[in-house]
Amino acid sequence: MGKITIKDIIEKKQKKKITMLTCYDYSFARILDEAGVDIILIGDSLANVVLGLEETRRVALGEMLNHTKAVALGVRRSLVVADMPYVAYQRNTKRCVVQARKFIKAGAEAVKIEWFKDCPYVVEKLIKDKIPVMGHIGLTPQTVHLLGGYKIQGRNQEEALVLLKQAKILQKLGVFSLVLECIPWQVSKLITKSLKIPTIGIGAGKYCNGQVLVLYDLLGLYKKKKPKFVRVYKDISFQINTAVSEYISDVKRGRFPAEAESFSLKNQHLRLKKQK
Ligand code: KIV
Repeated sequence: MGKITIKDIIEKKQKKKITMLTCYDYSFARILDEAGVDIILIGDSLANVVLGLEETRRVALGEMLNHTKAVALGVRRSLVVADMPYVAYQRNTKRCVVQARKFIKAGAEAVKIEWFKDCPYVVEKLIKDKIPVMGHIGLTPQTVHLLGGYKIQGRNQEEALVLLKQAKILQKLGVFSLVLECIPWQVSKLITKSLKIPTIGIGAGKYCNGQVLVLYDLLGLYKKKKPKFVRVYKDISFQINTAVSEYISDVKRGRFPAEAESFSLKNQHLRLKKQK
């Protein structure tokens, strides 16, 4: 299987479903890449699931850049997309291109931008600078306080039409795909059908052109919140707990390390020991 390009992702709209997962480090990136996921997103959900912060907007630019570098080193085939953190474009929109270039330099092939009032300005600037952009509408965690909390978006005709309008603006500006978060399936179906670019849903039903989940949700590693749309494919937190408990017990009972896990002096040097 060859390297996945942005063109491949756009073409998948007509053919196959797109798979996307978040990832934050080198070792997981290798596993996800080898498993065949189409897009690996260094999501700013890093703030919640890795750094233990309440709000995604608290993650620092340097933190996102470091994790982007780590993930990019582990990926050979998947498309690498980095979430632009709030501080990189919403606080000072004029610096968005300079900040986005840092993500490309760190190994990302595209950046993701959440909808906010000046989103069209930022997207236009980035695309003019030839930086590929993935859009994100619906529940946008960076500005969740303006949405009245973590709530489903597009719950009535008026709200649905606003989302459709945002989607069309972003398509016109040239985003190559669009994340739809926490939207009733009927609304995301309408948006998906109305666009030429692919939609990737999270809590947006099955009619999107692809799906994304937070890796730590899929693996049952993040226990603080479990939104309705999450499916835990395997709860590895239990397996990790078992492995760590076994290690603790083995160390305490002198069963770890064994000879095979220790370095030994060669026979001729054993004399040294005796001379002492
Ligand atoms: O940061 C993130 O994990 C995301 C996904 C939910 C799409 O933006």
